[in-house]
Amino acid sequence: PFIEPIPPLPALYTSFGFSIFALLATLYIIPAVGPAFIKANLKGIDLLKNDKTPIPESQGLVCASIYILLLILFIPFAFSDSISNFANAKKTREGISVTEFPHYQLSVYLSSLLSLLIATMLGFLDDVFDIRWRHKIPIPIIASIPLLMVYYAERGNTHVVVPIPLRFIFGTLLDLGPLYYIYMSLLSTFATNSFNILAGINGAEVSQALIIALSVILNDLLYLPWPLDFRIPLHLLGNRAEVEVGGVWSAGMAYGSQELVERHLFSLYFMLPMVAVCVGFMYHNWYPARAFPGDTLCYVTGMAFAVVGIQAHFSKTLLLFFIPQIFNFLLSCPQLFGLVPCPRHRVPRFDPDTNLLYPSKTLFLKPPSKLTSFVLRTFSALGLTDLTVHPGTGSIFEANNLTILNFFLLRLGPMPEKRLVQTLMCSQRINNIWLLEVAGSVLAFTVRYGLAGLVYDG
Ligand code: UD1
Ligand code: MG
Repeated sequence: PFIEPIPPLPALYTSFGFSIFALLATLYIIPAVGPAFIKANLKGIDLLKNDKTPIPESQGLVCASIYILLLILFIPFAFSDSISNFANAKKTREGISVTEFPHYQLSVYLSSLLSLLIATMLGFLDDVFDIRWRHKIPIPIIASIPLLMVYYAERGNTHVVVPIPLRFIFGTLLDLGPLYYIYMSLLSTFATNSFNILAGINGAEVSQALIIALSVILNDLLYLPWPLDFRIPLHLLGNRAEVEVGGVWSAGMAYGSQELVERHLFSLYFMLPMVAVCVGFMYHNWYPARAFPGDTLCYVTGMAFAVVGIQAHFSKTLLLFFIPQIFNFLLSCPQLFGLVPCPRHRVPRFDPDTNLLYPSKTLFLKPPSKLTSFVLRTFSALGLTDLTVHPGTGSIFEANNLTILNFFLLRLGPMPEKRLVQTLMCSQRINNIWLLEVAGSVLAFTVRYGLAGLVYDG
């Protein structure tokens, strides 16, 4: 079932080289263009510092520009195999036997770039104009149409494996059909917005993107044609990986098939430079921040994850990497959907005397409705928020803002900003470890596939 190592790996080395360049460029350009951003009024005040000097904002635009330009420059390298095939065919005059140019893969690549560009544009417009929620939500959905069309063109999988308890109703495999496409388009709007609502402390936005990108890379590495002995344990898990990735159950498509390798190579081409720009930007955004990412960084990174998840067919695994973001989103829902007042900023409260962060509060100007009280009391009973109740009437008049950052402060106590961002990073990493952070480690596999086995039998 093993195939011989496939040659497109040289392009991977090129991608690695491009990424080093992206890292150096980001490190250098971010501070160099800072004054120009301030001059263009792209600046923000750090809400959690005493120092109120303006800091250049939306510098995610620099990251997005470097990232997208390098991805465009990389196109000929990604297809170097086909290019050399064509060249050789001419030399030997055996033009008939030459394989066709992989137009499909080119359309995967180009549609991905298109989505990234729209995300960058949306993010930047949001930075400049503060776009309303009702306009922000649908735009990434529309931006995902090229991705979905390409997915459809390849007759991408729309099946999901049904958890054992529900199998007597639905059977083992359920074809979601159009619903699966709706899921994928919602993924793009979720990925972009979920980083943006988990923001406001130095390093928060970029560290989420960095850790998820690293996890995606480790996931991709598992699918590359490694030397035989290393692949043996992977092979044992082959069928299961199949279900996740291709959904094609035929025995012919063994683990490590060309198609799988190509998809994960594609994902690597997009994720390696992503890690590079994130590391470069993080250097300047780390506490105390000298540059702010703006919504641009949140949108472009989020869209990049949606792109690789959809195009490399692991959109369900991807969602597992987003568990902290899903938690933050669910926690935020009462504020996002207007049940609980949502102030312009929900960042924790900074106490200048102790230099510590405390949970920030939202105030009820009028008594909350029955539904709101019910939701808040449930959240409070679960330890997710802290309520202040009017001593006379018993109605709620203050609640902690419903974000994961305030939740950490509530559970772990007040802490400095740097500790809070480290806590956030830890939670993201712990979440991703049980999936597969330690590449190739048997432990990661046992946990990932072992746990999956509880719900989905072999
Ligand atoms: C989202 C959040 C908002 C949070 C804000 C902070 C929701 C619904 N919205 O709004 O609650 O307060 O992000 O990013 O959850 N800032 C800092 N330190 C940082 C990063 C940002 O103080 O490390 C401040 C700066 O003043 C900066 C501003 O946040 O100018 C950026 O906020 P913006 O991205 O415009 O807020 P939203 O995305 O609309
Ligand atoms: Mg923002």
